[in-house]
Amino acid sequence: MADQYAQSGGDIRPTGTPAIPAIRWDEPPEGPVLVVLDQTRLPGEEVERVCTDAPALVEAIRTLAVRGAPLLGIAGAYGVALAAARGFDVDEAADSLAGARPTAVNLAYGARRAQAAHRTALSNGADDAAAARATLQAARALHAEDARASEKMAAHGLALLDELMPGGGHRILTHCNTGALVSGGEGTAFAVALKAHRAGRLRRLWVDETRPLLQGARLTAYEAARSGMAYTLLTDNAAGSLFAAGEVDAVLIGADRIAADGSVANKVGSYPLAVLARYHRVPFIVVAPVTTVDLGTPNGASIEVEQRAGHEVTEAVVPLAPAFGREAGGVPVAPLGTQAYNPAFDVTPPELVTAIVTEEGVLSPVTVDGLAEVCARSGRV
Ligand code: MRU
Repeated sequence: MADQYAQSGGDIRPTGTPAIPAIRWDEPPEGPVLVVLDQTRLPGEEVERVCTDAPALVEAIRTLAVRGAPLLGIAGAYGVALAAARGFDVDEAADSLAGARPTAVNLAYGARRAQAAHRTALSNGADDAAAARATLQAARALHAEDARASEKMAAHGLALLDELMPGGGHRILTHCNTGALVSGGEGTAFAVALKAHRAGRLRRLWVDETRPLLQGARLTAYEAARSGMAYTLLTDNAAGSLFAAGEVDAVLIGADRIAADGSVANKVGSYPLAVLARYHRVPFIVVAPVTTVDLGTPNGASIEVEQRAGHEVTEAVVPLAPAFGREAGGVPVAPLGTQAYNPAFDVTPPELVTAIVTEEGVLSPVTVDGLAEVCARSGRV
């Protein structure tokens, strides 16, 4: 990819999806593996990471090589399938994967779903090989379901935008990364923007850089560029002035966990956007598959927010630096010994959320009963 930039002067193929799939199962002669696109290297390099066991995948998840709620669910399920296929302890693998990161509920959902498929197969008399096949089938099913959910969310989300803002020309602000890199399909919030773009109704995608790990700058801008969208990158702190200038028609974000009361945990910086949106009377729309809703978490205060290492804040972390001719690793930007506050997510209360878009449709206003009904309809209770 770095060469391609250099040779073409930044003329990137408008495909809308990464050239290398975010995740894939492979069966070379040495045995089954799970191959993930290493997102820490984007946009400079499209490099795959091959996981031969659950601990390797846990490491890839913790370091954000594979990330984003729906993809974490898919990865969790395949990770359990990998353990089963290679004859490792499936329950141990499921436990370690489910706990690799605490906030995105999809991760535990995917791991536990695959684990349940394995248990069911064994209790139905399957031998180890057949149980492993059943586990892989469960992972593949989740992968395919997520792709279908993504398509439906995009359609429901665009219909909502058109209803809220007849006439098109949508100027959408988004935060973090929610496209094909985090999904079996084209993503959540980004998939809506992509559909608007393809329909000729996206005027601009405003991309928050998303401190401290720059998922917006590195990944969303990469996906937007590949899709040929009109997009502009801004520092997270610049969003306020953009609202004040009347340049934002709607905020579209994904979610890592939606509690039973409609509280939304998403990448840190989402809540300030919701407050800004309310002040400026701009719709704040959350797009997420039903697998992100967790009725077992009653409210926002019960959502565990992942706290990450302080060096991600005290150093400028540029994991892709080699692609730009610099050494990888953090460059200190604060005095040595500085303490940092580094929550990976924040929680937006339901009263600030205009709508939650799932594959089941649009929920607005966001209510406890409405959310429970969405889950019941989808079979996820
Ligand atoms: O820490 P990350 O990069 O995994 O955080 C991802 C996000 O916050 C995304 O916005 C969220 O998972 C929604 S993905 C559709």
